[in-house]
Amino acid sequence: MVQAWFTAAHAPPEPHLPPDWRVMPFDSLDSTNAALRRIVEMEGDVHEGLMLWANTQTAGKGRAGRKWSSPRGNVYVSILVAAPEDLIHAHELGFLAAIAVRECILDLPRHNAPPPKVSCKWPNDVLIEGQKVCGILPEVVADDAKRNWIILGIGINLVAVQIDPAAYPPTALSLHNIDTTPAHVITVLTRELHKWFAVWREKGFAAVREEWLTCGPDKGAVVAVGLPEGSVTGEFAGLDEDGALLLETRGGRRRIVAGDVLFGDGSHAARD
Ligand code: BTN
Repeated sequence: MVQAWFTAAHAPPEPHLPPDWRVMPFDSLDSTNAALRRIVEMEGDVHEGLMLWANTQTAGKGRAGRKWSSPRGNVYVSILVAAPEDLIHAHELGFLAAIAVRECILDLPRHNAPPPKVSCKWPNDVLIEGQKVCGILPEVVADDAKRNWIILGIGINLVAVQIDPAAYPPTALSLHNIDTTPAHVITVLTRELHKWFAVWREKGFAAVREEWLTCGPDKGAVVAVGLPEGSVTGEFAGLDEDGALLLETRGGRRRIVAGDVLFGDGSHAARD
């Protein structure tokens, strides 16, 4: 099943996964999202919980066509999830993944230190003490039977951080007294994802949104959003029922469905 574009699989330790999940570990891939897409499109015989894990990526993908710097030591995984019947709900998985990553981070053992402040940044990032520790890239793919899947790509910084000066200020777990391994992070992360997939399917996006709001920006916090037509600054007013960002701006309430969000007035010009 492993195709020639992959380099050799790396040795265990492998993570412990929820029932029916399966990991395919690699030392190096171009992008775990791109490789999983090829498997879905070419192999067909796939199932929810199939996960690709790479030690490093040569062409890691970020949102909005950006690159995701992928040095060794961090987590790079892509997980296959059965798409909701109506693809209009597909983006909800990004919020779900963010709260699962947050809970994963809070569950990891720390050296004699209180828990760090782990928050969610709209739409799909996770921050520790205001700096980005995780990026999430959900993508839709169809198999040859025209069945839709979501590829949930997740990158978590453990020891190394992105050095792209255009990136949102980065951080890593090791900088917050969390000394762990990629395999252990994946064990805890998949447990949290498995739990939240069930909540999402049983209770719908409302339950995910409610949890996200407990760890998103405070109401009234100043948020700047980079949009193709320029930056918009306003006070955070919540998430709409579909996950759109609500901002109170001088010109009135704005509903934002895509963009890069910065906390503060955006003057440091960092993007995610
Ligand atoms: C972002 O914040 O821009 C999203 C970054 C997503 C990075 C992860 S790393 C694993 C998976 N494979 C990729 O090529 N991208 C995602």
